[in-house]
Amino acid sequence: MNDPQLLFKPLQLGTLALPTRVVMAPMTRSFSPGGIPNEKVVEYYRKRAAAGVGLIITEGTTVNHCAANGYPHVPRFYGQDALAGWKDVVSAVHAEGGKIIPQLWHVGNVRRLGTEPDASVPGYGPMAQHKDGKEIIHAMTQADIDEVVAAFAQAAQDAQAIGMDGIEIHGAHGYLIDQFFWDGTNQRTDQYGGSMANRGRFAVEIISAVRAAVGPDFPIVFRFSQWKQQDYSARLAQTPAELKAFLQPLADAGVDIFHCSTRRFWEPEFADSELNLAGWTRQLINKPTITVGSVGLDGSEFTSFLAGTEEVAQPSNLEGLLSRLAAEEFDLVAVGRALLLDPEWAAKIRDGRDSEVQPFSRSALGTLY
Ligand SMILES: Cc1cc2nc3c(=O)[nH]c(=O)nc-3n(C[C@H](O)[C@H](O)[C@H](O)COP(=O)(O)O)c2cc1C
Repeated sequence: MNDPQLLFKPLQLGTLALPTRVVMAPMTRSFSPGGIPNEKVVEYYRKRAAAGVGLIITEGTTVNHCAANGYPHVPRFYGQDALAGWKDVVSAVHAEGGKIIPQLWHVGNVRRLGTEPDASVPGYGPMAQHKDGKEIIHAMTQADIDEVVAAFAQAAQDAQAIGMDGIEIHGAHGYLIDQFFWDGTNQRTDQYGGSMANRGRFAVEIISAVRAAVGPDFPIVFRFSQWKQQDYSARLAQTPAELKAFLQPLADAGVDIFHCSTRRFWEPEFADSELNLAGWTRQLINKPTITVGSVGLDGSEFTSFLAGTEEVAQPSNLEGLLSRLAAEEFDLVAVGRALLLDPEWAAKIRDGRDSEVQPFSRSALGTLY
């Protein structure tokens, strides 16, 4: 039997001193009207930090570009009003002894006309898309790319200025950066399309600009995934060698920690090894990694939750997770739905109150904070 206390051992990663190994996964909640995190948001994150989460990764928060947002009531990471709201969140989490980083986000071509803050702005992406003779997705020019790169750098600098403990760049799940990575959404013929190195260039430019803006010691986490919301079976890397070729330039540009997004942490990433995506990444790139995907739950899909279907995920024991953690397959463990449902999830695991952990379902979620 592995000891759940493994999850609650402090860890120092560079300048980041984490009180526990439990990370709150970034989860969009659409509860920041006007793009400003309010007192409810402060309390939502404070409660998780108070109950054993060592590192909070905030919900996706948009960088300062006209097409960054794709959904209602998503918090901005620009403008004095929104940054003041985030500063209150930081103070509350720090007062509980936790650490917090914002997930910096641009949704790319997922955006639809009519979305806030400016309804007339279409989605932006690697390629144009037209419908009924109208451009619904604008193909990004070099000037657009430069503008988005600068917006990420500015957001990172602002994060540092308001006391955040680092930043996470959202490079996963088929949003803008991932749209550049994946040849299913990127058939550009310029230096941003074609080879994996070219498809990774946009991310490398963002990471380099962020690193230049925040200096050498401020932690940069990069989240990536093989799967896309446009295609769950999509893969950027078919082999460990391809994974290394994809990630090494990102590491060289300044990533400190890779957040390897999978839907089930126990699934082997490649044949002939039990290692998951975070395990392979740690081994190939020699950087700390975060694993994620159905921790504390059985295998039902979080994507069914997003699709609005009523699938119930039952609590499951942590034995498999703990044996991988004990073997140092990865460094940190991100938890999504279990922590959404129950702010005290981590404390219950720590204190042996597992029997109090509830099943996860959409209806159980309600309007939880
Ligand atoms: C309600 C909800 C919102 C999410 N929003 C985001 C997001 O803003 N950014 C992101 O990278 N992932 C997002 N995800 C994915 C989670 O971070 C996580 O990877 C996923 O839920 C799997 O972890 P779990 O099985 O522990 O829930 C979201 C998931 C859920 C359930």
